[in-house]
Amino acid sequence: DVPVIAVDGPSGSGKGTVSRLLAEQLGWHLLDSGALYRLTALAAQRRGMALDDEAMLSTLASKLDVRFASEAQGASVLLEGDDVSLAIRNEDCGIAASKVAILPSVRAALLDRQRDFRVTPGLVADGRDMGTVVFPDASLKIFLTASLEERGARRLRQLKDQGVGANLPSLLRDLAERDARDARRAVSPLKPADDALTVDSSGLDVRGVLDRILTFARE
Ligand code: CDP
Repeated sequence: DVPVIAVDGPSGSGKGTVSRLLAEQLGWHLLDSGALYRLTALAAQRRGMALDDEAMLSTLASKLDVRFASEAQGASVLLEGDDVSLAIRNEDCGIAASKVAILPSVRAALLDRQRDFRVTPGLVADGRDMGTVVFPDASLKIFLTASLEERGARRLRQLKDQGVGANLPSLLRDLAERDARDARRAVSPLKPADDALTVDSSGLDVRGVLDRILTFARE
């Protein structure tokens, strides 16, 4: 079986960066599952669909025309042929994604698409339910956490680096809302798998988190 490392955790825990570097270091593929929820939300908004129309949204999710461009060119994402790499990264799209992610049939529609990323030599899967639902047989399951304050500060820095204006109080409010929606959802709520190893990244830099995960991976 193709090995999978599942990296789950809340918004701003550093999952995205850590997963990308981990995949690079191991020479494995990367699944950014959040991008699929973001793409579903963006495609819905482009069609003027309501973000709670479960039937329409799950049909849309199952037919989503998405291409992830080759890893060597960086991570560019095409939706219906348009480069939406930047558009799916903004906060509004993240909030919309967390709304469509509540819908059980949307989650079901994206299951096979996520599992298709499991190709030799291995997969690093970044998300909320990688270890619990999508890849329950993952060889290593990491649950990455950090305090709300630290996650807010990181997100602020990240947006500033991208030249996007933001303020901390509103980022903290968004993160807390998204945490609540992730935790409350009836299907696949955010929680560590029983066999997940929790890594608290507060006070650790990316290298520190990566080293800890690589140590687990070698054990
Ligand atoms: O972590 P962050 O919110 O910055 O972004 P993301 O990982 O791209 O996820 C966007 C949204 O999709 C999250 O707020 C989750 O609600 C949802 N999501 C999910 O439900 N399941 C996943 N496997 C990945 C993301």
